[in-house]
Amino acid sequence: MTVFHLRAAGVSLVLDTRGDAAYITHWGPDLGDLDPPDGLFTPAVPPSSIDVPLRLSLLPSLAEGWSGRPAIESGHGFRTVETHLHEQTAVIRSASPDATQKVVTELELTGQGVLRVRHRFTNRGHDEFVLPNLDVLLPIPAEASELLDFTGLWSHERSPQRAPLRHGIWSRESRHGRPGHDDAFLMVAGTPGFGFRTGRVWAVHLAWSGDKRIWAERSALGCSVLGAGELTAPGEIRLAPGESYETPWLVAVFSDAGLDGLSDRLHPWIRASSHLRKPRPVVLNTWEAVYFNHDLTVLGQLADAAAEVGVERFVLDDGWFTGRRDDRRALGDWFVDDAVWPQGLHPLISRVHAHGMEFGLWVEPEMISPDSRLATAHPDWILDSGPTWRWQRSLDLTRAYDYLLDRLTALLTEYPIAFLKWDHNRDLLTPGVAHRQTRALYRLLAALKQAFPHVEIESCASGGARIDLGILPLVDRFWTSDTNDPLDRQSIQRWTGVLIPPEYLGGHLGAGTAHVTGRTSALGFRLATALFGSAGIEWNLTAASPAEKAGIAAWIAEHKRLRPLLHSGRVVRADSPDPAHLLHGVVAQDRTHAVYALVTLGTPAAALPPPIRFPGLDPDRSYTVRPIGVPPRTMQDAPPPWLAAGGIMLPGRVLTELGLPAPLLTPEQALLLELS
Ligand code: DGJ
Repeated sequence: MTVFHLRAAGVSLVLDTRGDAAYITHWGPDLGDLDPPDGLFTPAVPPSSIDVPLRLSLLPSLAEGWSGRPAIESGHGFRTVETHLHEQTAVIRSASPDATQKVVTELELTGQGVLRVRHRFTNRGHDEFVLPNLDVLLPIPAEASELLDFTGLWSHERSPQRAPLRHGIWSRESRHGRPGHDDAFLMVAGTPGFGFRTGRVWAVHLAWSGDKRIWAERSALGCSVLGAGELTAPGEIRLAPGESYETPWLVAVFSDAGLDGLSDRLHPWIRASSHLRKPRPVVLNTWEAVYFNHDLTVLGQLADAAAEVGVERFVLDDGWFTGRRDDRRALGDWFVDDAVWPQGLHPLISRVHAHGMEFGLWVEPEMISPDSRLATAHPDWILDSGPTWRWQRSLDLTRAYDYLLDRLTALLTEYPIAFLKWDHNRDLLTPGVAHRQTRALYRLLAALKQAFPHVEIESCASGGARIDLGILPLVDRFWTSDTNDPLDRQSIQRWTGVLIPPEYLGGHLGAGTAHVTGRTSALGFRLATALFGSAGIEWNLTAASPAEKAGIAAWIAEHKRLRPLLHSGRVVRADSPDPAHLLHGVVAQDRTHAVYALVTLGTPAAALPPPIRFPGLDPDRSYTVRPIGVPPRTMQDAPPPWLAAGGIMLPGRVLTELGLPAPLLTPEQALLLELS
């Protein structure tokens, strides 16, 4: 047995396998060429403790003296039986003392410095084994004493919350059958006061779309950990002799450059295995334009208006299938409603195609309405016996699998559909089935992807209640939130984007008065907010004025021009001394080109706002800064001279360190700046 030292992109992972068990002795900054002398990673022995130094193994347990939350609640420790290093992946095989339980742990440090860890547990006994839980734990240093994670509500996803990490456990549990609007998303521990650009941070995310828990623990024993695993009900995971259970991947990232440093590893890693094959098409989604009022004439006119402004994909949302006149019925009956669509969807799709646009369709396969024909035919397929939720229940995917695959295959075969918006609008309130539901969902998505590789899929769950790296390999877009209100969207997109690259995050231009909040926002602010991600429109364009349509067409043209940069560059966000001011942007990988948005969320704290300091530029290169997009509303007697002059040229070092005087934007405005 030996010491494995994996290094990549400024990150080191040291794994000491010389004892009875394997120990992660370092996960963090690069340690250089290291030949660790004996004892380097061995702590002192305190009084009133076990009589040997305490070290946390890969599967920390009571048996080794760890009285914190264990990796597996079975009490006993695991012994390492074999270790193996293949390129950047260490494989550790461990066994229980009686050899009836075996665990294989894989630890991979990717070229981008992202660490992935998972366990596979196998029952080698002669009897069924009920697995209580199996989690992945990683040690973090004592300096990581401040926590950031997320909570949220419908239309308010990924609301950040921060707190000191005290002795004890801060544990977030998701019991929704989906990550949920309040998903912890990322558990970040860092040096006090860490920000987007500063501080050392250690973060974990569980790549899983079902029930899960994720936590940080600081123990009086002197160790701190981040941990996560699937949350299973008692008895949910039953393993017959020879059967295995594999945990989801724990994705772990270290950065010594704040939260942007996390994105700097995560985004390139996600992009390296991305299956997005073409530029993200500009979408028009019919939901907030017509809701359930499906009518070929109206939708045909909407398609014409969409094409006129430059839309590339027209998505028919909820309301097209048999009997679906409102949100109280018909889920499960995935047949085109011939009362509304006597010739099927063909006339609409032909019109969409005639304009050179792709056609997309909304579905919600995991659900069933109690009054549907499907429910009458298969009452035993219905889960959730308690209260309905949006008047619907969950469908048992293990039973309905063939039906769903057949129906979706039939639709995708009959109609030239390029995109499915795959929705999921209620929590699963049946204990003990989330594991099999989630696995069945992954299987169904994978089967469809294999049969229809050209069909893109969007993960939507009442907005952004299912955005995670477990489903990401099977989908092409996330619906970030049901709110199209730009004020709320600024924050939701900013935080979701720490993990997910912008090209996956749907952001739509809504009507002037947002349907969810009733707040009215300027067109320029709405356009600037929807510019950066996978852009789209969710507005009845047939009711837009000619001036509004011209503004939208110009915005779409600008988005298409900037799209190669926006969807491949490094995402940067400034730490602002004034919470009313946000600055975010995207900088090309070679740092020759960038776009930033200066955003005012409210009234600035002082008469003069802080200067605009541009993160991420090449200090030794000169940049021309010029405003683009719709000029924001200001309230100032005179603008800063550089802006009045239409731009300025300065070295990157000056733009980053000193910055430019900011104009006085009124609340809820955005100034877009292009640097080249
Ligand atoms: C919830 C989604 O998030 C919305 O965008 C829309 O598709 C509705 N469901 C349709 O029922």
